[in-house]
Amino acid sequence: MKFFVDTADVAEIKDLASTGLLDGVTTNPSLMAKAGRPYLEVLREICEAVDGPVSAEVTATDVKAMLAEGRHLAKISDNIAVKVPLTVDGLKACKALSDEGTMVNVTLCFSAAQALLAAKAGATFISPFVGRLDDIGVDGMHLIAEIVEIYTNYDFATEVLVASIRGPAHVVEAAKMGADVATIPPAVLRQLYAHPLTDKGLAAFLADWEKTGQTILGDKSGAA
Ligand code: E4P
Repeated sequence: MKFFVDTADVAEIKDLASTGLLDGVTTNPSLMAKAGRPYLEVLREICEAVDGPVSAEVTATDVKAMLAEGRHLAKISDNIAVKVPLTVDGLKACKALSDEGTMVNVTLCFSAAQALLAAKAGATFISPFVGRLDDIGVDGMHLIAEIVEIYTNYDFATEVLVASIRGPAHVVEAAKMGADVATIPPAVLRQLYAHPLTDKGLAAFLADWEKTGQTILGDKSGAA
């Protein structure tokens, strides 16, 4: 399963990239607004920091303008995935950009029917928003199960990119269902490491070790 980070904070991205566990980045206009810096400049820096796909969203809503923006964004780097909303015009733009060889991430997906359309339009990624469905009392992860089943039935190449993740449980459920990618907020990505028994166990090991008065590097007895 691939891990993308869902942020436009370049410092966060560089820090998480240093773990070697980062396979890509997703941004959206809200995250870019939060970054408070020129859009293309931020995207350039992210593309330099990460080898994998970097999703950059168009802000136009009609197909002609979406294509112009998408082509402009795609010129930034080979690893740009142009992000388009799941609308009629968005899927027209998806088809055209995919046919030109540009990666496309279709975003704001809230139903299996929408995901089926995106796959037929040649999307590289479909982004179902699980947290926002949970927020309105609908089981977001059920949508992931439906999409994985449909894509498997027809061998669609479109990758299921689980978005709007709220906590580690979403990531684990997505992995159990065989989703291709999870795009994870930095705070949740860091939560994945944590377990109180790990902290407790490590503290006990270190306390016992300290009592021995030894250091590993100070012990030359077994060294060649
Ligand atoms: C995905 O590409 C979106 O940027 C993101 O996951 C949306 O998450 P939110 O619902 O927390 O805003």
